[in-house]
Amino acid sequence: MEDRAITTSRGFINPQTSPDADSSVLQIWGGYPLQGHVKISGAKNSALAIIAGSLLCPEDCRIRNVPSLVDVTRMGQILLALGVKLDQNGDILDINASGIRQSQAPYELVSQLRASFFVIGPLLARLGVAQIPLPGGCTIGARPVELHVRGLQAMGADVQIEHGMVNAYVTGKNRKLKGAEIYLSYPSVGATETLMMAATLAEGETTIENAAQEPEVMDLANFCNSMGARIRGAGTNTITISGVTRLHSTDYSIIPDRVEAGTYLVAGAITHSELSLLSVVPDHLTAVIAKLREVGVQVVVEAANQLRIIPGQSIMATDIETLPYPGFPTDMQAQFMALLALSEGDSLITETVFENRLRHVAELNRMGADIRVKGNNAIVRGVPMLTGAPVVATDLRASAALVLAALAAKGKTTIQGLHHLDRGYEKLEEKLLSLGAKLQRVPESSVDADGRASNPDLLTSQSN
Ligand code: UD1
Repeated sequence: MEDRAITTSRGFINPQTSPDADSSVLQIWGGYPLQGHVKISGAKNSALAIIAGSLLCPEDCRIRNVPSLVDVTRMGQILLALGVKLDQNGDILDINASGIRQSQAPYELVSQLRASFFVIGPLLARLGVAQIPLPGGCTIGARPVELHVRGLQAMGADVQIEHGMVNAYVTGKNRKLKGAEIYLSYPSVGATETLMMAATLAEGETTIENAAQEPEVMDLANFCNSMGARIRGAGTNTITISGVTRLHSTDYSIIPDRVEAGTYLVAGAITHSELSLLSVVPDHLTAVIAKLREVGVQVVVEAANQLRIIPGQSIMATDIETLPYPGFPTDMQAQFMALLALSEGDSLITETVFENRLRHVAELNRMGADIRVKGNNAIVRGVPMLTGAPVVATDLRASAALVLAALAAKGKTTIQGLHHLDRGYEKLEEKLLSLGAKLQRVPESSVDADGRASNPDLLTSQSN
């Protein structure tokens, strides 16, 4: 698979993944065991927050271990539109935000990437003004931003929402935000990140109570601190930020992606294969590993940054409730549903974080799963076998669940809606092929009406 380049200010390259994520499909022939090791990429959600955070700094920022993903490219495009210089070389991204010309982010870009709303915090802190379109909902829920807005207001910003635009200003002589005591009624990841970034350059001290504790929040705080910010307590539910007047240059490496790692762990479990994961932080996967152990899979910490999964004979049923970190992540719910669809017994999955994140149920049922939805609960009756079918990815993690189900299913699965997958899994096909999976991305038009295509035994890691 080609490397997906981000936009750069020298030589602009269009975001991309495969040439036509919308007109291509992924064909997967299931039932082949996987084997070997896979290197986990940098965390998408850290990368998005950290790229936004680089707006705080008027000097060079070098960010390493940046995953090559459509979402990351889109965040880069937002910064470009604001007048920031970017240069990408492999997984290194150099950003210089000394010359921000614009305080208004373009709607076409913000509407495609909800996380781009997070630039409101650093922009307001740097310029005293930010105009960001309301990002709107997405396939998994309405996703409002009132916690971000209320927090910024508490820090002295004047925020008006008009014609779909959030217009935020700081008045006063030096146009500086003021430190404040903020309590979040829900530990929103995005709101915590927005407010933490805004407080970095504010006058005085800010505390964020009931803050999100996700590792990506801590990564963002570490990144800001590497530029001279004074943030304490990130990773706990109380974060304290002492404002500084200016940040300086940095060279920072992003943490590994715990959701990508969790997805490969489930790939091992669902195909009954032994796999090693390199470049992981086992501590970030505690809830996921605990659930895997409950269903009868061994997960061994082989080294500080290496995990090995050793499957059991069968998959046992278990119940799962998604929660803010350190609870079980909503971003792993769909993948576990695919796994539990093949368990011995009944499982109850309760989604508490997003209101509309069970749309993959219908697609898994097309593959022979027996899952019923009641409100935000999914009742999963384990079946002995899934069968390949044409299916449609409904969101990013749902698409990962379909890939996992397809790896275990009998026969061929054809997955449409690959633009979701390309948002969040770096080199997915390449990585799975190297583990021995049989799959290929082909133009939709080349697929037979009955779904027949190439012989899976001819597919190798070079075929992609
Ligand atoms: C981030 C992650 C996403 C993950 C989610 C929860 C990024 C780029 N994305 O999304 O992958 O699934 O955390 O772990 O980091 N909410 C409000 N009002 C607000 C803000 C949020 O009601 O002002 C609600 C949301 O609608 C949602 C819940 O809070 O129901 C969690 O959202 P939040 O933690 O903010 O998620 P994101 O930051 O959008």
